[in-house]
Amino acid sequence: SPLPKVFQPLTIRGVTAKNRIWVSPMCMYSSQDGFATDFHLAHYSQFAMHGAGLVMVEASGVLPEGRISPNCLGIWADEHVPGLRRVVRHMHQYGAVAGIQIAHSGRKGSTIPLRLYGTRPGFKEDAEHGGWPDNVYGPSAIAYDDGHHTPAEMTAEQIGAVTRAFADAARRADAAGFDVVELHAAHGYLLHEFLSPLSNRRTDKYGGSFENRTRLVREVAAAVRRVWPREKPLFARVSSTDWVEGGWTAADTVALARLLAADGVDLVDCSTGGNDPRQAIAPAPGYQVPFAARVRAEVPEVLTAAVGILTPATLVRDTVEEGRADAVFIGRGFLRNPSLTLTIARELGVNVAWSNQYKYSRTKTN
Ligand code: FNR
Repeated sequence: SPLPKVFQPLTIRGVTAKNRIWVSPMCMYSSQDGFATDFHLAHYSQFAMHGAGLVMVEASGVLPEGRISPNCLGIWADEHVPGLRRVVRHMHQYGAVAGIQIAHSGRKGSTIPLRLYGTRPGFKEDAEHGGWPDNVYGPSAIAYDDGHHTPAEMTAEQIGAVTRAFADAARRADAAGFDVVELHAAHGYLLHEFLSPLSNRRTDKYGGSFENRTRLVREVAAAVRRVWPREKPLFARVSSTDWVEGGWTAADTVALARLLAADGVDLVDCSTGGNDPRQAIAPAPGYQVPFAARVRAEVPEVLTAAVGILTPATLVRDTVEEGRADAVFIGRGFLRNPSLTLTIARELGVNVAWSNQYKYSRTKTN
């Protein structure tokens, strides 16, 4: 039988991923002052050593206050580059494409990394624990929810500074050797906050109409594209819907994807939600795939990736085989099993190359 498309290479600009099973960006809350450590080297390498086609390093703050928590990874200073370069170099040795998601947390900044410290009450991180409660900002002075910071409404100067910070971060990502940069425009962080009418009530050119709400992400994409090498792909992760009446919609996502393609974005990574606690979601296998499929069908000039509970292996295969997405991102599955790519290959009866060091595990001993 022919090789399933999900195990066929995908070339975008000058970069080729050997397969289309990719590690989704996941915050590890394991940094101090934004620096990559031995943890990051070991953590990201394990996926590369076990066959993932692309590994997307977690949301990395383009400014210190653009982190979510005090323990998030950062890319706001040139000093961050050597640690990241070490991670990239090791992933490259095992044939993985190395990506990094660059991010600004907006009104969700200075929060407690719940997955690590869920025992402390509330969501606001205080200065005593490394937070920056007095420097949380967003499009409008609207808190995400009760118990969260009320952000300061950003000035025009702050908006310009954020755009420059994204471009500077992309320049550092290139210096570190990354092949792919992904803009984090999803999950209720700053760029998504500007997109959604639920969080953006501005009356200047960055709020109100669809054109105005999409202005910041488009300016960021264009600024990043100017410094990010022509041969390297640029991705954008979006929340395809807010899952709330009156919020951002799938139709908005299609229109945005068309604009972002014109700004030099090569792939739209279609997640959902995260900007409003009233979101009505029923997570189930493949529940976000229709959003990727719609973008792929209606915006042929951009590639798409699907994400979210992509299991079993046949769903991973069929999502790409049937043209609902060009690639898949998998998150928690890779945390449970760093060798997931090889597991999926085995389940689908596909013979893929193993790294030399682990080949011997496949010889018959009994
Ligand atoms: C995430 N997710 C996430 N998304 C993102 O765009 N940037 C990030 O840094 C993170 N961080 C993160 C941390 C952890 C621990 C988890 C579990 C998730 C979301 C993630 O990339 C993915 O979209 C979801 O987990 C859904 O995919 P799975 O896990 O069902 O395959």
